Amino acid sequence: MAAAADVPFTPDLHLRLLLSIDRGHNVQRAVRAAVAPGARVLDAGTGSGLLAMIAAGAGAGHVVAVDRHHVTLARTVAAHNGLADRITFHEADLAALGPADLGGRFDVLIAMIHTNHPLIDEERSRLVLDLRHRFGTPDCVVIPGEVRYQATGCERLDWDLATELTDLDQAGEALRGAYGRDFGPLVDAVRHGVAMRGARPAKAVAHAWRSPTRSGALRFPRGDVRLLTAAHDWVSFDYQAATFPGFPDEVRLVATTAGRLTGVIWTQQLRYAGQPLWTSESYSPLATARLVDEGQEVTLLTGDRWRATNILSHHQPT
Ligand SMILES: C[S@@+](CC[C@H](N)C(=O)[O-])C[C@H]1O[C@@H](n2cnc3c(N)ncnc32)[C@H](O)[C@@H]1O
Repeated sequence: MAAAADVPFTPDLHLRLLLSIDRGHNVQRAVRAAVAPGARVLDAGTGSGLLAMIAAGAGAGHVVAVDRHHVTLARTVAAHNGLADRITFHEADLAALGPADLGGRFDVLIAMIHTNHPLIDEERSRLVLDLRHRFGTPDCVVIPGEVRYQATGCERLDWDLATELTDLDQAGEALRGAYGRDFGPLVDAVRHGVAMRGARPAKAVAHAWRSPTRSGALRFPRGDVRLLTAAHDWVSFDYQAATFPGFPDEVRLVATTAGRLTGVIWTQQLRYAGQPLWTSESYSPLATARLVDEGQEVTLLTGDRWRATNILSHHQPT
């Protein structure tokens, strides 16, 4: 099954994540509530090392922190804070670790490795559950404990997929006219990435500093979208469950107002003990925008095509 490209984390991204102060405070509260004195804690995808340091400060007996990137930096930060002997850092891919690699099982699994993007996080959820099975004690507490998705149909005003794709077709024609060559494969490669790139609220994730006081959520600015449906519960997943069922193959929406449905905003909420830790939005466009009337039900397909392209299509009744 095709999947969206992964998100390469950089020190800059970690710094901006740390500056989402209310996310940090929410997770800090969760870690302090979960870690009993002497507990063994695994911080999977430690990044900056913040959550490993919070666990150590909360009285964990031993903390193991794993990431595939920038572990030297996280280790240096921990040492800088006098915690060098309380946290063991490993540079490794979590998916490739065996139980013997980390020296036993853990009472608490911190796995804040979601990317705010359902197309990537479906696999991340499988990984978190797999980590709990491979490394958790029978009563292992997982942070986040639950992931919820809601779907809201909307008209996106700042972006029009059909226009962008038409522009790309015209670019291909222009290149043929200018050079007498067919650049179809190059244009197709660009076309493949167009809908993926539109998934995130660009203004919120632009590479610019943002105020530490800004809300711990990633949203599309409301001037850029007009919501046409209520937020429909789509799927929720508890990390104490035995297996992860994956996302359903369709989403059903009912318009609360008439408009031009261009796509769906997914709201992802990571939760612990009934409280939200972090809320984020992403967007999937419809292949073709559709006019809807108030009260009209629309079923959109979230199967393999959506997973591979981020593009939704209509359910065709048989
Ligand atoms: C969203 S960041 C969060 C960092 C930190 N947990 C926090 O909440 O501040 C996710 C981190 O998980 C790491 N990560 C994701 N998948 C991983 C994998 N398969 N193996 C190791 N690290 C992974 C990334 O490199 C990144 O540093």
